[in-house]
Amino acid sequence: MNNTTLHSAGTEGQLAWYAAVAYEDLAFNTGKTIRCDATEVALFKLSSGTIRAIQNRCPHKDGVLAEGIVAGEHVFCPMHDRKIDLMSGLVQAPDTGCVTTYPVRIEDGQIYIGLPAAKEMAS
Ligand code: FES
Repeated sequence: MNNTTLHSAGTEGQLAWYAAVAYEDLAFNTGKTIRCDATEVALFKLSSGTIRAIQNRCPHKDGVLAEGIVAGEHVFCPMHDRKIDLMSGLVQAPDTGCVTTYPVRIEDGQIYIGLPAAKEMAS
């Protein structure tokens, strides 16, 4: 498993930004587990080049979503194949539920993940 543990690169407004990985170093359509202090995030680079960050645990039974299969703008949980929209975090019908999505930004070729700053302070 490909894991990285990070500490906040700075707080801005209500978000703490974590420098995750260089854009070029993230493989297309393959998830990467990023630990931002106490929060585990699944980071994806879609075939369009879009970067998405979501909660790394499936709402069904905690499947590791970074290990799921990516198809278009969705990831399929590796445990029981629930389909999750990487844009909205919504589990697709007939199943239900959702995962948290996190904002990302790219600066100078570096991907940053934004987490609620209050959560960082609580950890
Ligand atoms: S744990 Fe993800 S579908 Fe069951």
